[in-house]
Amino acid sequence: MLNIVVCVSGGGTNLQAIIDGIDAGRITNTKITGVISNNASAYALERAKKNGIPAFCISPKDFQKREEFNEGFLNKLKQLNPDLIVLAGFLVIIPRQVIETYKDRIINIHPSLIPSFCGTGFYGLKVHEEVLKRGVKITGATVHYVDEGTDTGRIIKQKAVEVFPQDTPEILQKRVMEQAEWIILPQAINEIAIKKGMM
Ligand code: GRF
Repeated sequence: MLNIVVCVSGGGTNLQAIIDGIDAGRITNTKITGVISNNASAYALERAKKNGIPAFCISPKDFQKREEFNEGFLNKLKQLNPDLIVLAGFLVIIPRQVIETYKDRIINIHPSLIPSFCGTGFYGLKVHEEVLKRGVKITGATVHYVDEGTDTGRIIKQKAVEVFPQDTPEILQKRVMEQAEWIILPQAINEIAIKKGMM
């Protein structure tokens, strides 16, 4: 069994794609042992609760010092004992001690074809605004391992999505989610679960 913890900050549509993937058997041999958000009002936490998944809110705002948050976040992860940590729109810098503890066991979904439109400041709608501003005809999404950089880890999966002339950032974001993110993130998790099962 691949035990995963999903870290979220927003609506949780990628979390929902994972939940649905497990329920439908597209993601095999996998259990979400917890969902962690830095945002108490994240609808992703509601999605977790509706599906009987332990949901936790741990925010840097709850701690005097950032280092205390970093330790608290690592301790919660250790309690949940994940084989894999999935960042699904988690808008928090991952502490060095977490990256070291879970080396090569943290993955992230990014809404562009890395190495384009990624790195510091490229998240959410901003990515799609820049795609439209540059006028590229193809964008997409990337699942990659998380290392000490921002969107710099080894690429696992990518899927291309067409950009249309009348696209707004919101329309493009939705298409990238529907046609890429919600497909390749479950696929990547399933492939990792299969590999673990073969070990
Ligand atoms: C997604 O667009 C993802 O690519 C990015 O953050 C967004 C999260 O959306 N990293 P949701 O919370 O999964 O709906």
